[in-house]
Amino acid sequence: MKQEKKSYVKPTIVRHSVGVTNKYGRPPATVPMSRLNGFDVKELVNEYGSPLYVLSVEQLRQNYQDMFRAFSTRYPGARIAYSYKTNYLKAVCSILHSEGALAEVVSGFEYDIARNLAMPGEKIIFNGPYKTRDELARAFTDGAMVNIDNYDEIQVCEEVADELGRKFPVGVRVNMDLNNPPWHKFGFNVEAGHAYEAVKRIQSGGKLDVKGLHIHVGTYVDDVNIYSMAAQGLVNFYTVIKEQLGIKLKYWDMGGGYASHNTLNWAWQSAEYTCPTFDQYAEAICPILLKGPFQAAEAPRLFLEPGRALVDEPISMITTVVSQKRLPGGKRGVIVDAGMNVLSSVQWYNYNCQTVQDSGLTLEDTILYGGLCMNIDVLRQNAVLPPLRRGELLVIPHIGAYNLSQSWQFIYLRPAVIAIDNGKIHLIKASETREYVQEMESVPKEFNTYSIANKN
Ligand SMILES: Cc1ncc(COP(=O)(O)O)c(C=O)c1O
Repeated sequence: MKQEKKSYVKPTIVRHSVGVTNKYGRPPATVPMSRLNGFDVKELVNEYGSPLYVLSVEQLRQNYQDMFRAFSTRYPGARIAYSYKTNYLKAVCSILHSEGALAEVVSGFEYDIARNLAMPGEKIIFNGPYKTRDELARAFTDGAMVNIDNYDEIQVCEEVADELGRKFPVGVRVNMDLNNPPWHKFGFNVEAGHAYEAVKRIQSGGKLDVKGLHIHVGTYVDDVNIYSMAAQGLVNFYTVIKEQLGIKLKYWDMGGGYASHNTLNWAWQSAEYTCPTFDQYAEAICPILLKGPFQAAEAPRLFLEPGRALVDEPISMITTVVSQKRLPGGKRGVIVDAGMNVLSSVQWYNYNCQTVQDSGLTLEDTILYGGLCMNIDVLRQNAVLPPLRRGELLVIPHIGAYNLSQSWQFIYLRPAVIAIDNGKIHLIKASETREYVQEMESVPKEFNTYSIANKN
């Protein structure tokens, strides 16, 4: 029998020196994470496919309760309004509402989700720079808290108030020079006097009544001093508008931005050491706000709008290795079946990657590629991983914030989401089907030139 010539693979010498066992045992990436929330990871994939998002309901509830306790024990009447855009899966929002969270929405689409989940208008905070006239009319009629972002919106709100023949309470979004670069996009700047002018303008119009102040200082803000400065800024601003314009606030809202336990790509230290606790955030904010210009009984209600700090940790992704290769420099590349279209936060985070099977102890610096046919689809530039074969699994924890709501359908169909609660699995979003993805499309007869050409 003729022997096939073996294909030539250029040899490379790779130094496997990282991560060997020491007196403390195995390095974390090589400790197989064969079970997730009590279930065998391989069986989950066999049943629901790969990639797969997995929500721990217990962890989601725990995060909410921890944050609520930290703030409500320091500021009476503090309330958490969950930022829908972070992950608006209906199951996620429902779990948080069942814990007591209000809804913070930034579009008519999100507003609809909240209303369809039976949230009453008065438990919805409506932010965002672009709200349509109809959406504003609906929100005012429902009694939602509308926070105004810009002068054009003041105008539209006044017209809506005219049409509805009533005066409506509103909040005003403000921004301050707190971080570098500053977040000036939303609301009116305090230091430049714009916020004062806006409040004055609204009051003098006589159609709206300023009852709230809102600030959102950024996202993944792991320096609690920024929140302290923002809180002090709100206290100072309230003092001025109270004295000079007779404003009496019903609420103030510190927005979102609280960090989660993920390490940023450019961070020197792991988030394990740098991410503040909810108690540290609350301690940075509440005592300052409580020194505001009011008696205790008249303290404005405090709202917080966390997103990532609540939902990042409770969701993990399971993904399957599809191939590995040696790159010209000698570095190993591993391709998995999840792309950056379903894990868009790879542009910010150095996600941790955990093996599922026992893949040995020899760790190697690896580029982890997503499965899209796109050169930019890199999930990790430097992941320290053991040898991985096609078909083996990885778990990427803490991916619940923004990856689902910002996912885009591209090349592959988007995966399913399951929730694990008290030992029970619930399918909370089925994986996409080809029919679903193409449902909105049509091909006019005239465009079908191939069949026309074939007829002639
Ligand atoms: C107004 C507002 N509130 C809350 C959030 C939630 O932010 P994060 O997920 O950083 O907590 C955002 C997000 O940018 C926002 O724009």
